[in-house]
This record gives sequence, C-alpha cells and structure tokens, in this order.
Amino acid sequence: MKEKIITIDGPAASGKEKISKYISRKWKFKHLDSGILYRRLALIFFNENIDVNNLSKIKKKIREIKYLSYRKNQKLRTQEISKLSSKIAVHIFIRNFVNKLQYDFVKKNKNNQGFVIDGRDIGSVVFKNADLKLYIDVKAEIRAKRRYKQLIDSGEKSIYPKILKEIKLRDNKDKLRKNSPLVIPKDAFIINNNSSFSDTIKQIKPLLNNL
Ligand code: C5P
Repeated sequence: MKEKIITIDGPAASGKEKISKYISRKWKFKHLDSGILYRRLALIFFNENIDVNNLSKIKKKIREIKYLSYRKNQKLRTQEISKLSSKIAVHIFIRNFVNKLQYDFVKKNKNNQGFVIDGRDIGSVVFKNADLKLYIDVKAEIRAKRRYKQLIDSGEKSIYPKILKEIKLRDNKDKLRKNSPLVIPKDAFIINNNSSFSDTIKQIKPLLNNL
C-alpha cells in the first residue's frame, strides 16, 4: 500500500509543529519539519560568517553540503536564525536543495504508514499530490501572544510588540516572495487554530479518520 502524505502549511508560529506532532503520534506517521532545514542552513551561514547577500558565496557553500540533520535544538530557534532563514528561503537554489532533502527523506523511510510534513509550500509545491492538505490559520496577534508566553515560560526575555512586529515581517516575506510563496493550497482544508487545541483537533480528526 502506498504511504499517505499529509501536508501542513501555515504562517510562522501558527501551531504547525504541535499539530504535526499530534498527528504523527496518533496515526503513526513520520514527521518532517521542513523549516528545520532552512534554519539549519541559516545557522551554517551564521556560524561560518558567510554574508547571505553574497549569492556566489552561499551557492558555493550549498554545493559543499551533503547532508543536513533534522534534529531540533535551541540554537535553531533564535530570532536571529528565524529572520535569516526567511531571508535565504527566497532563493530558488536554496529551495531546490531543501526540497531534494525532503524527497530523499520520504524515499528512505518508504516502509512507514505515512508522513506528516509541515512548512510553507508543502501542499502547494513540494508534495502537490498529497493525500490530505491542511492550512493552519491563526491571527498574527494570537500567534505573537503564544510565542511571547512560550519565551517567558522558558525563562527568556521577550517583548510582545517586538514579537508581533517580527511575525508580521516574516509573514510578508513568506507571502510576497516570488518563489514558492506561502499560499493556501488549492485543495487544502483551512484549520482554524485561533481557539483551544482541542477545538483544532476536532476539525482535524474527521479528516484523518476519512483517509
Ligand atoms: O517553520 P519555521 O518558522 O521553522 O521556518 C523558518 C523559515 O523557513 C520560515 O520563515 C520560511 O521563510 C522558511 N520556510 C520556507 N518553506 C518551508 C519551511 C520554512 O520558506 N517549507
């Protein structure tokens, strides 16, 4: 039987990760967070002091990279890396590189029940023939409030207006870019994640049970 592919797209801090993890646990699907790959690249450029405005330098570096880890860590989550990942994600050669890693991941893990893959262009570009496409919708103010609480709870300093501003900037960058902008995929179900998680799950469960 062909393994199922579920795509989850949505703006920054819309809860894609929490929803993906829930689906992965409950339906035993392998989870792939494509944002991690963009963040890993951004961290490499940052650590190696590579100027991301210098296209020939970043192209050269990309040719040298053979593998990127999907593992998460706190260093990938800083505001600096969030901004940098959005900045490099506009380039087609970066996107092609990341997409190939995603296709390899699915190929390598073929004997799984299925995959839940989240990002910005997964249902619209990367896995256009997915079995189920979800688009997560949450107001920017609610996303910023949740992100602010997360940071404060983990003991970090945070300023709400600054978080809101950065979320809006990242939204614009992701939605207005020429290559693979963030859009609602044509055949996607829009999931309203403005309220409680249990409310969100109520919208998702029947869609997955009907697969
Ligand atoms: O999802 P996350 O916030 O970790 O992604 C970091 C950045 O990587 C996003 O702001 C976006 O610019 C980029 N990204 C993308 N396409 C994806 C996943 C992430 O352009 N499929």
